[in-house]
Amino acid sequence: MVEELENILKDATLVISNARTIDELDKLRLTYLGKKGIVTTIAAKMKDLGKEEKPTAGKALNKARTAINDALEVKVLNIQEEEDKKVGGNIDVTLPGTPLPRVGRHPISQMLSEAVNALRRMGFSLASGPEIETEWHCFDALNTPADHPARNESDTFYFADGRLLRTHTSTVQIRTMQNNEPPVRIISPGAAYRRDEIDATHLSQFNQLEGLYVDKNVSLADLKGTLEYLLHSIFGKKTQIRFRPHFFPFTEPSFEIDILLQAQGKQPKWIEVAGCGMVDPNVFIEVNKSRNDNNYSPDQVSGFAFGLGLERLAMIRWEISDIRLLIENDTRFLHQFA
Ligand code: DAH
Repeated sequence: MVEELENILKDATLVISNARTIDELDKLRLTYLGKKGIVTTIAAKMKDLGKEEKPTAGKALNKARTAINDALEVKVLNIQEEEDKKVGGNIDVTLPGTPLPRVGRHPISQMLSEAVNALRRMGFSLASGPEIETEWHCFDALNTPADHPARNESDTFYFADGRLLRTHTSTVQIRTMQNNEPPVRIISPGAAYRRDEIDATHLSQFNQLEGLYVDKNVSLADLKGTLEYLLHSIFGKKTQIRFRPHFFPFTEPSFEIDILLQAQGKQPKWIEVAGCGMVDPNVFIEVNKSRNDNNYSPDQVSGFAFGLGLERLAMIRWEISDIRLLIENDTRFLHQFA
């Protein structure tokens, strides 16, 4: 049997090395190693051998099996390599590629770049922060007490270790002040997350644009001027804007900003587009504690902050009635913004 196996191995090695295609090799694998293959058939005969013969025959069998398998694998790689070379040689790299259909910029991207451009003209620079946040950055440092409803597990995505998906981009206000000396003048676009039921006006992930300006003598007039300029840049100079007193834990006083929407053939309507206010002294105090200094002393500096929802802006601009259209990637919808 040992001799027989050696002969089989010799033959196999020869035919494998002569094979030209992967198909041929697949067939050879079956011929030798398949269920009814030559080597397998011999293996079945092992049980009839005598005690002395068995170990040497077993060794020869294993050797033949492994060697044939290896030869097959090496040959497959060789053939593949050669085929790749052939194809590569025929590629004309100067030919133009297959064009992708152009749909235009997504409405959210368009709103974002318009807002960012307007704010950059006023000297704001871009800042960023992580989407997975600590409770401290998201709430405590922003003067939001432990019993505030936004901190409920039913409203916010928490991780087992106590961290969370930020519920707003206001976290970047804190991170910016921790890491930079005043004055700071930043904007920070990014995703925010809430455990909302998804419907025509809510998504569990959406996009905000945060702003913060801290310096000596920053006033409410600066806040109004900046946000009016921003909203006029986006919605047109004639758009009416109003500041309506509101409450946010991290600003005092705080406002919501509405614009007057005058859709053709409809009653004019005030629509909320942003939250804003003067940075609450408690926020500065908390930042100072974490910095271990008093560089953001509420007696020395003041500031304003604001936050806009980009989906909301896009929905107003293009009269989009369902927020879900913005994430469905339906090209029939997206083509309209080309
Ligand atoms: N973080 C607020 C929200 O998600 C929006 C906001 C309001 C941001 C007032 C601010 C601000 O910076 O001053 O609803």
